[in-house]
Amino acid sequence: MTDEELKARLPAAIAARVRSLRIAEGRVTAILDASGLDAQGRSDIEAAVKDTLGRTEGVAEVRVAMMADRPARRIIAIGSGKGGVGKSTLTTNLAVALARAGRKVGIVDADIYGPSQPKLLANEGERPVAENDKLVPVESRWGVRVLSMGHLVEPGRAIAWRGPMAGRALGQLIDAQWGDTELLLVDLPPGTGDVQLTMLQRFKPAGAVIVSTPQDLALIDATRAMQMFEAGGVPVVGLVENMAGYACPHCGEISDPFGAGGGEATAAEKGVPFLGRIPLALGIREASDTGTPPAAGDDAHGEAFRAIGDRLVRWLDGADT
Ligand SMILES: Nc1ncnc2c1ncn2[C@@H]1O[C@H](COP(=O)(O)OP(=O)(O)OP(=O)(O)O)[C@@H](O)[C@H]1O
Ligand SMILES: [Mg+2]
Repeated sequence: MTDEELKARLPAAIAARVRSLRIAEGRVTAILDASGLDAQGRSDIEAAVKDTLGRTEGVAEVRVAMMADRPARRIIAIGSGKGGVGKSTLTTNLAVALARAGRKVGIVDADIYGPSQPKLLANEGERPVAENDKLVPVESRWGVRVLSMGHLVEPGRAIAWRGPMAGRALGQLIDAQWGDTELLLVDLPPGTGDVQLTMLQRFKPAGAVIVSTPQDLALIDATRAMQMFEAGGVPVVGLVENMAGYACPHCGEISDPFGAGGGEATAAEKGVPFLGRIPLALGIREASDTGTPPAAGDDAHGEAFRAIGDRLVRWLDGADT
């Protein structure tokens, strides 16, 4: 009896789930796709396979393995047109906020040439291992898994790769052993270059969060980034305004070095949700530099990041932001 003949004995609905089926020395090993089945469904199918094949001549033993459901992992890209507006800071803090809310979150630091996440998550010294040719993400203190080029090259060493190599490197970070991670936040480099295009074409994010400062020039670039995602069929979850309003640490007076309200107005103009505003604050910069994400704490800054995290969760859960 050949592998194919054995498979043909199974009812069509079960045969359709067979990922591999082999017989060797009277022992059958069947691997089935268990997607969408509950525990009862799995055990019914396992029993049916054992029963049907076990009654076949020449079969002494039947082993059935169920492939675990592939988690429906979604990718959210964090992008901006302009550099230095706070994408990496927002990515870290959104991830920490979502992990606090019980989500299984990972970060892919797609800034291949200038990685930030190892520093922001205070795990610069970590080195991911590879298993079955795939990288295993590094665990951070806040329950956020992360993969970054910064974990693979020596700190401070410049990477001088051409576009296609950067694209391949990004592929290895995304197509890694993410396990039960439900959500991958991808911290993009600024602009609309090779890495962003690879991201759009090969890994089709479920949505994109756009970061901008309230400044006109940054907003023009943010609009360009939104257009890039929309042209690639990736919905824009919304716009975050970062570095909005500066509270003087001495007198408390609020000034607006980059203007005020521009992000909200641009979001309204482009018809995308406004996800919230993060102030320009010395505390955010200092906490970020020392690898203690404000979203892990309970002060007003943490609160501001978590409010944006809540809106992202609502979007992911299919509600309006
Ligand atoms: N709301 C804020 N208040 C104060 N400092 C901030 C704030 N957001 C970000 N920063 C600081 O601004 C700098 C740039 O932020 P970040 O690295 O997150 O930007 P980016 O958009 O990822 O930059 P790049 O385009 O280079 O990747 C960092 O030093 C960061 O700590
Ligand atoms: Mg960055």
